[in-house]
Amino acid sequence: MGLPTSVKLVEVGPRDGLQNEPVAVAVADRIALIDRLSATGLSAIEVGSFVNPNLVPQMAHTDQVLARIQHRQGVRYPVLVPNMKGFEAAKTAGVTEIAVFIAASESFSQKNTNCSIAESLTRIQPVCEAALKAQMRVRGYISCVLGCPYDGDIEISQVTALAAQLTALGCYEISLGDTIGIGTPAKARLLVEAVAMHIPLDAIAVHFHDTYGQALANILAVLETGISVVDSAVAGLGGCPFAAGATGNVATEDVLYMLDGMGIETGVDLGALVETGQFIAKLLGRTPDSRANRALATKQRLD
Ligand code: HMG
Ligand code: MG
Repeated sequence: MGLPTSVKLVEVGPRDGLQNEPVAVAVADRIALIDRLSATGLSAIEVGSFVNPNLVPQMAHTDQVLARIQHRQGVRYPVLVPNMKGFEAAKTAGVTEIAVFIAASESFSQKNTNCSIAESLTRIQPVCEAALKAQMRVRGYISCVLGCPYDGDIEISQVTALAAQLTALGCYEISLGDTIGIGTPAKARLLVEAVAMHIPLDAIAVHFHDTYGQALANILAVLETGISVVDSAVAGLGGCPFAAGATGNVATEDVLYMLDGMGIETGVDLGALVETGQFIAKLLGRTPDSRANRALATKQRLD
């Protein structure tokens, strides 16, 4: 399988990014970020989550964010939903796509969702059923696919079985989460090839955090197997409050710079994305954690 001619970027900055900020970003600023991202040509932007706000206060008021963002035609605005309570709130807020999430490790499942892997599947089953009945699209995440901060190595067979189970529950796409950015290219490729033996290749997305600086290398390795859906976060925001040591997602600017350079179509404008990265980084009081952003900002100064 060769490289794909086009890649769909799933922007997770407003959710995976902002959920990990030490201070909750104001609703108006979350909206401004999403509207800017919508204008870059991205076709999927994760807006937030409907989880317990006492545990993740940064994602409280996702309903207000949904109500006030510009819903551009052709752009999808999914939200993360852990259980029926979250589903009902998402439905009331008018979402048309949700993402459910489980983990490939027992310890992370407990820390993230306060239940075992088996219980999490039981918990999301009615969510998937209700969402499909309501004509929503359902995406599925599996966390810790390449290693867990608490349990260490994860068996590939565990991930393939869960990917098959999420697909059976009706998820149209399974995002494989390297939650703590521990993966390396050969392992990432092996995992994706194994999962592709159980679900269609075009239903697999990859979600790399960049803790060890491996994310771009991992993405290239899996693109070579035919993967064409990549999650990323503008300015390299991100992490998971329940995964010790997890740092930012791979920066969307860096993924896009690589894809542009390889002639792989995304429909996203790098200049607009770089500006958006600068916007949110300034708001958070730091520089964007993206090599492309830093390089282009330096070039602009020199030009
Ligand atoms: P639980 O304690 O088992 O749930 O939490 P519960 O049903 O026993 O309820 C306990 C309390 O939570 C109750 O409130 C509920 O009302 C409330 P109380 O009566 O004590 O005041 N509650 C809710 N409130 C609002 N919305 C809800 C909701 N559900 C319960 N949906 C639960 C289980 C999963 C809800 C909890 O553990 C939780 O919210 N965890 C947060 C998980 C999270 O957001 N993690 C980060 C996102 S996942 C991620 O980042 C990984 C990913 O990026 C991929 C990767 O990188 O690997 C996707
Ligand atoms: Mg993540």
